[in-house]
Amino acid sequence: MTQPLLIYANIPFCNSKCHFCDWVVQVPVRDLRLGEQSPARQSYLEAIKTQIRVQSPTLRELYHPDIIYWGGGTASILSTGEIESLYGALADEFDLSTVREATIEGSPESLTPDKLRVLRGVGFNRISIGVQAFDDARLRRIGRAHGADQAMKAVRDAHEAGFGNINIDLIVGFPGQSSEEVAESVRTALSLPVNHFSIYPYRASPGTVLRKQVHRGGQLDLNMQLSAYELTRELLTGAGFPEYAMSYFGAPRCQSDEAYYQLRMDWIGFGSGANSLIGRRYLTYEKGKLARYNTNPLAFDVNAPADSPQLTLHFLSQALTTVEGMDARLFQQRTGTPLRTACEQPEVMSYLLKMNDHGRVIVDRDGIRIHPDDIARVFIALNWIDTPGTDDREVIQLTTRT
Ligand SMILES: C[S@@+](CC[C@H](N)C(=O)[O-])C[C@H]1O[C@@H](n2cnc3c(N)ncnc32)[C@H](O)[C@@H]1O
Ligand code: SF4
Repeated sequence: MTQPLLIYANIPFCNSKCHFCDWVVQVPVRDLRLGEQSPARQSYLEAIKTQIRVQSPTLRELYHPDIIYWGGGTASILSTGEIESLYGALADEFDLSTVREATIEGSPESLTPDKLRVLRGVGFNRISIGVQAFDDARLRRIGRAHGADQAMKAVRDAHEAGFGNINIDLIVGFPGQSSEEVAESVRTALSLPVNHFSIYPYRASPGTVLRKQVHRGGQLDLNMQLSAYELTRELLTGAGFPEYAMSYFGAPRCQSDEAYYQLRMDWIGFGSGANSLIGRRYLTYEKGKLARYNTNPLAFDVNAPADSPQLTLHFLSQALTTVEGMDARLFQQRTGTPLRTACEQPEVMSYLLKMNDHGRVIVDRDGIRIHPDDIARVFIALNWIDTPGTDDREVIQLTTRT
């Protein structure tokens, strides 16, 4: 019997390099903004199809596709022709009739009604739209390629094109952002045909334009971040969208993020910047090395055992954002090592103790989780503390837990 598989494809292109974004920090602007006609983008699409063609015969023997996720960058930046060709490459190699959820990530300015119909037509049944804010001044300041009206239109057009499962991403807690501005964006979001919300407290990540601005004159206030998040939680849960993980509200839950965060199944990552967890090996192509990937899409930058301490930290940092946390049985299935043994490694233990300074970390026979009331507090605190190079003089630390 075959096992379920999450198939991820990474599209490392965007219309803008947003001032806050820590997903594409390593990607040079000249690669990020390659247009459809550019030879390097065409080579990329050929390279990713090569990777799919070469790896899929072995995968087909062991797995059946359960979930598809195209992220980035901005997956919806692809033209309709590129979308059909890449989805076709997957359909040529895998029987996609077993796929329960197929998500594409998109930015508002790249989502035309025509493209949305094509996306629905090829097989996507969920769309995640990066909106960030419904405030034109804020959108300009953070370097977005769209305004608030365009974002509202993209959501409505997606709904009209037949998407019944729509997520939008919003960021809250930008330095100096008022609670009125946060509440206004959330209220606008609630007026749209959206069933799932991803609310990310702003991370002032090194290498981003906004982080440099914060250093020049702003101040990072963790209490303000937590208040902004709690305000959002109050508005969304009050409107009937339950919080089931840090940042995630609504239903149905995002199957791909749950699978990935909680190690519910193996995954294959196609493309530059993608990672895979296959047969207890963790394989990665580093971001920002487009030319290298195009030349050899089968040479991984990292090929490590899934139970290495660095990976345990990474897996825990994702799983513990969810209410269920890290399940001991799933951890052992994916990595081959008992969760307790993995947690006895000094760096893992010290990470859990650091978390426990900010919220209740619960360890029992079933696994490890954080008390649901404390998850946001822990991760907002760690966003900053763990960010290398954060200058403590400019950070107002989270008030100690009572
Ligand atoms: C890979 S992006 C995909 C969305 C799409 N490219 C767009 O921007 O419309 C994933 C999401 O991560 C979030 N994100 C990126 N950088 C962030 C940061 N520094 N702090 C908080 N959230 C961030 C944004 O909400 C963004 O929509
Ligand atoms: S937020 Fe989205 S569009 Fe902006 S740089 Fe990041 S991935 Fe690209």
